[in-house]
Amino acid sequence: MPEFDAFTDRLDPEMCVVTAAVGERREGCLVGFFSQCSIEPVRFTVWLSKANHTYEAALVADCLGVHLLTREQHDLAALFGGGCGADIDKFAQVRWTPGHGGAIVLPDVAAWFVGDVERRLDAGGDHVGFVLEPVQWGGRRQEGPLLRLRQALDIDPGHPAGQPHRRDPVAENER
Ligand SMILES: Cc1cc2nc3c(=O)[nH]c(=O)nc-3n(C[C@H](O)[C@H](O)[C@H](O)COP(=O)(O)O)c2cc1C
Repeated sequence: MPEFDAFTDRLDPEMCVVTAAVGERREGCLVGFFSQCSIEPVRFTVWLSKANHTYEAALVADCLGVHLLTREQHDLAALFGGGCGADIDKFAQVRWTPGHGGAIVLPDVAAWFVGDVERRLDAGGDHVGFVLEPVQWGGRRQEGPLLRLRQALDIDPGHPAGQPHRRDPVAENER
């Protein structure tokens, strides 16, 4: 819908890195589709592309890590947004620690939380929403601008959305 670009082009959301761990498997990707979706109780939803490697792990993970990046952390954004976990070990290149429920935390970011996956929302499109209840959080005590979409537009996504290359268990469950 090219004519709708007039609306979406005005948006410049903060970016985050979402991590998912299942046993020894560690995945993570750059995400622009996320927001708080409830005040009481506090809930956040992150939307993961069905094409992503991280999505597969998130489908079976009990909790996910959500990390806000500083404007200077473009390299981190490029690592998680520009490559596929099937080809590279993204976590060999960053400092990480285990968090609540075995989640993966990237402690050097601006702010982070780990959230229990409360439900998954397949809206019929190419992304699935993961509704999270924050249970653990932290981050640097540092002011300063966060990395936004405008600073990440030069990153070629490891997987273009809309081209699922794998089985989609959420859709299969709903059939
Ligand atoms: C600017 C930008 C925004 C992105 N937003 C999202 C998003 O909201 N949700 C998502 O699942 N992937 C998003 N991606 C794509 C993934 O971060 C990218 O395809 C990544 O390489 C997938 O890695 P994986 O296959 O290891 O999970 C975005 C990528 C970029 C560059």
